[in-house]
Amino acid sequence: MTSDTMSPRPRIVLDCDPGLDDAIAILTAAHFGELVGITTVNGNVGIEHTTHNALATAQIAGLDVPVHRGAARPLIAPTMDAARIHGATGLGDVTLPGLTRSVDSEDAVAFLCDTARSVDDLHLVAVGPLTNVALALRHDPDLRSRLGGLTIMGGGAHAGNVTPVAEFNVWADPEAAAIVFREAAPITMVGLDVTHKVLLGGDEAARMRSAGTPAADFAAGLLDYAYDRCREYGLDAAPVHDATAIIAVTHPHLFRSSSHPVAVELHGEHTRGMTVTDVRPAAAIAAAPAPPAHDVVWDADAQAVIDLIVEAVVNS
Ligand code: BDR
Ligand code: CA
Repeated sequence: MTSDTMSPRPRIVLDCDPGLDDAIAILTAAHFGELVGITTVNGNVGIEHTTHNALATAQIAGLDVPVHRGAARPLIAPTMDAARIHGATGLGDVTLPGLTRSVDSEDAVAFLCDTARSVDDLHLVAVGPLTNVALALRHDPDLRSRLGGLTIMGGGAHAGNVTPVAEFNVWADPEAAAIVFREAAPITMVGLDVTHKVLLGGDEAARMRSAGTPAADFAAGLLDYAYDRCREYGLDAAPVHDATAIIAVTHPHLFRSSSHPVAVELHGEHTRGMTVTDVRPAAAIAAAPAPPAHDVVWDADAQAVIDLIVEAVVNS
């Protein structure tokens, strides 16, 4: 599969918490989509770092894209990070250049709401905790109807990573995720069921590095770092969750999904942050009030997705 078969370039706002795979997602979105803006959120590391990293990534790739800083903490939950995976500053051990620009605003929520009004068929792709998106829905309850699509990297019907059943982005701000899943249907949920199948490693880092551009070197360094962390956990390749979510928007024909009610668990002693996905037959579900249905992504042509992510990086 090549870029010849891709959908027309979707207009994307990327809400993210860079983050190794978020940074690769920025490059992927800018290559295969029309990246209208980036909003940042607290998540993998604190908002100072995620915002700095978004600006640095755009700068390294020469992207002229607005960056708006968002929420510094979850709605209610205590702040928890993923620095163990992404490194203390969020981008592993790569050396970043000094920034030549700063954020376009400190109000990601206003940017999200305004852009949804002014840009037709906008795809909001959220690949961090859903704090900004929940706040934007509170600000404009009609936000979802103004969007062409809402895709998240988060959750999973049958898998967790932070706990046996909870994925980081949902677990890090479950109250925000509960608002989004309840009020913004349908969401395309690119969760761990599919992202754990799109695995990159040393070969892909070498293919990226062979391009010899600053952005490709940068992305290869991020992938090397992710790959090293994964090997500590006994895995021989690294999921690149957030870039996979971008390809699900730009190349949806490569993915298999189906519609199911999904609710975010908030109270379970062992299950807080779980995306409880009802895969029972529709007739059984109809017998009881069900939460809103969402498009749950299960599977992908993994090799095609991997090749597209590499293609995006190599051409960044
Ligand atoms: C998600 O959590 C973060 O650590 C990654 O950036 C990705 O968005 C995967 O669970
Ligand atoms: Ca992320």
